[in-house]
Amino acid sequence: MSKMLRKGLALAALGLALIGGQAMAASEADEPRAPSGGWNFDGPFGKFDMAQLQRGYKVYREVCSACHAMDLMYFRNLGQKGGPFYDPKYPNPNDNPYVKSLAKDIQVKDIDNDTGDPVQRPATPADKFPAPFPNEPAARASNGGALPPDLSVISKAREGGPSYIYSLVGLGFNAPVPAGLTVPAGKYFNPYFVGDVSSAWHGKGPAPKGGFISMPPPLAPGKVTFDDKTPSTVQQQAKDVAAFLAWAAEPKQEERKAFGLGAMIYLFLLTVIVYFSYRRIWRNVSH
Ligand code: HEC
Repeated sequence: MSKMLRKGLALAALGLALIGGQAMAASEADEPRAPSGGWNFDGPFGKFDMAQLQRGYKVYREVCSACHAMDLMYFRNLGQKGGPFYDPKYPNPNDNPYVKSLAKDIQVKDIDNDTGDPVQRPATPADKFPAPFPNEPAARASNGGALPPDLSVISKAREGGPSYIYSLVGLGFNAPVPAGLTVPAGKYFNPYFVGDVSSAWHGKGPAPKGGFISMPPPLAPGKVTFDDKTPSTVQQQAKDVAAFLAWAAEPKQEERKAFGLGAMIYLFLLTVIVYFSYRRIWRNVSH
């Protein structure tokens, strides 16, 4: 190979690597990201961090529940095995005093047994999380026409799961609005929200990735006071609420993983036994 050709090839390879690297950097910039350190519930041995789930519940309760329902959740779920407030002393979560007191803080609708009138009363562990709005039109009317989705299984319903939720509420609203983008009134630019902003783009080059979301930035530093003294930054709040929503969407994840591991060990032992019995059975047979 001539020297020139070799040099040319090397340059081309370098160029390709650079282009590839840049393209990756551009697409990574707005891909959902896990917080630094990742999720401790990831992988086959992953487990939920109880303290994190407790903080996440607080973020949902004090911030997100003003607009988002979690219709599949009951207060008692918080105290079930694997839940944020599980206490082995109370295998029946309905007896868990902490769960009882969390429920009692929240008012739910009921009917007065004597008069039949609608009333409000403190919740018990047997109650569902109440919805912030009585119906969809009311929810839309309060949110500029947009519907805040139910968050019960949102972590499963969106690509990227908890990393998406973390990025959307913890990183996306801090991203600077690109110069040349006109954000419609009542909406917010968020690079992680799936959408198309090209009709509002007057800048150079292709329109930025992202969308206009009708959810105002929900988090702010110090907005939630964590009982365990964890510093309450926006990213911490986002990380914790995303973990809580990941648990809520699959509360039995740990049991599923433990079962899977047990099954693997069983299959492994079975393989060993089958192998040695095979050796034994065919020991004196020449082949
Ligand atoms: C003031 C009301 C309000 C609050 C508070 C609020 N949201 Fe929202 N949220 C909305 C609305 C409205 C939408 C629908 C946005 C749209 O479709 O443009 C939404 C959408 C979402 C979505 C779905 C985005 C998608 O991909 O479709 C997620 C996830 C979400 N919110 C999470 C949260 C979390 C977590 C919190 C608490 C930290 C929170 N929200 C607090 C109003 C709110």
